[in-house]
Amino acid sequence: MSTATKERGVWTAVRELPSNVWSSIFRNPLPSNDLERASTSFTNFFLHLHPVKVHRHTLRPVYTLGLGLMSLFLFLILIATGVLLMFYYVPSTTQAYDRMLDLRGTVAFGIFLRNMHRWSAHGMVAIVFLHMCRVFLTGSYRKPREFNWVLGVVLLLVTLFLSFTGYLLPWDQLAFWAITVGTAIAGYAPVIGKEMQFVLLGDTAVGQEALLRFYVLHVAVLPSVLVLLIAIHFWRIRKDGGLSRPEAPAASRDREGAVVFQKRIYGLQGFVRGPFTKTGNVPDDSVYSWPHLLMAELFVFVLTVSIILVVSLLFNAPLEQPVNVMHPPNPAKAPWYFLGLQEMVSYSAFWGGIGVPGLMVALLFLAPYIDRGTKGTGKWFARERLLANTIFLTMVLLNVMFIVIGTFFRGPNWTFVSPF
Ligand code: HEM
Repeated sequence: MSTATKERGVWTAVRELPSNVWSSIFRNPLPSNDLERASTSFTNFFLHLHPVKVHRHTLRPVYTLGLGLMSLFLFLILIATGVLLMFYYVPSTTQAYDRMLDLRGTVAFGIFLRNMHRWSAHGMVAIVFLHMCRVFLTGSYRKPREFNWVLGVVLLLVTLFLSFTGYLLPWDQLAFWAITVGTAIAGYAPVIGKEMQFVLLGDTAVGQEALLRFYVLHVAVLPSVLVLLIAIHFWRIRKDGGLSRPEAPAASRDREGAVVFQKRIYGLQGFVRGPFTKTGNVPDDSVYSWPHLLMAELFVFVLTVSIILVVSLLFNAPLEQPVNVMHPPNPAKAPWYFLGLQEMVSYSAFWGGIGVPGLMVALLFLAPYIDRGTKGTGKWFARERLLANTIFLTMVLLNVMFIVIGTFFRGPNWTFVSPF
């Protein structure tokens, strides 16, 4: 090969470098037709978590309210800000509080980082709870989604525990006494209550051992559990046939107004269970994930991040005086999401702290195995599900009511006070 030809070859490689690097990562250009849309969803690592097509109903904002996605994005914000906070934090009773002051005073954007982490954590507890409410009130826990619902209940419990373990880390009066009250509730469990409390605290009271345990649970154990469970949660959504939706009517009309009948479906006998290939030129009600689902996801992402940014700019995360074990605040209150429990404990330690909440969680786990109906699935407040929805909403309202009473109407010695 002549030198001139070699030089030309090198120049071509240099000129094409950007496009060659790009195409070595992304195997498709930005899709412009249906084949490319499908192919993009298949070949991109992140996009292949999505189905190639989704039902139109899945994309209706008023159906999901974007709450599942918001839960995910809040968790991602928590991981990002949490890792940055770890560079500054030391889980030691002599240093933790000073590190909080450093974040406020000397670390660039330290206070903003802490605000984002704190408000995302509170937001995640609330949004995961609301997501559970939407799933229940649309009957989406029913067959074939029973297991995903059960997984969801575990996700809610892990989310609560994750937030609870983070509460102690600033090592201020608020943290110390909230965790003292919160772990005391666990101690009311019969037989193993005290042992459970001891395992959690590594001691008989909140101190250095508890701080270290809560830290390890908060930064390593519980986030890893959550990542694994969320991955299974999403995988199950795919395997359960996408999001729930109302049953298709036996006959419907296509876009020209002609009556079309439900798809005819074949199963491949012996190899696969369930429907396999559809036949007939029937208009289906699905759209490509690229760009429809992706745009919806992007919108929820931008919305979630924007809300957290604005709230973190406007409000600072609380930081009270450093821990003083001789001076409990009166009343000492658990974190807000456990204040309903604390309120119930004030009536009966066992029933309020263990009996009733245990029964409620058991009912949540069992709901899809008790309610075996199919009518009214995929619709908000379906008339066919009046009884189930009424029981669920009563439980939710009682919980919210106890939280509101515990938060605003309880003063010194847990006496009733007016917030006005
Ligand atoms: C870390 C917490 C969670 C995350 C990140 C998460 C995420 C999601 C997402 C993105 C979806 C699809 C879209 C949507 O419904 O908004 C979904 C659906 C679902 N989630 Fe969750 N979820 C969480 C917790 C829960 C909880 C607490 C429950 C119930 C106790 C639950 C039960 C379900 C079920 C059954 C579906 C399928 C709903 C349907 O088919 O309509 N999830 N989840």
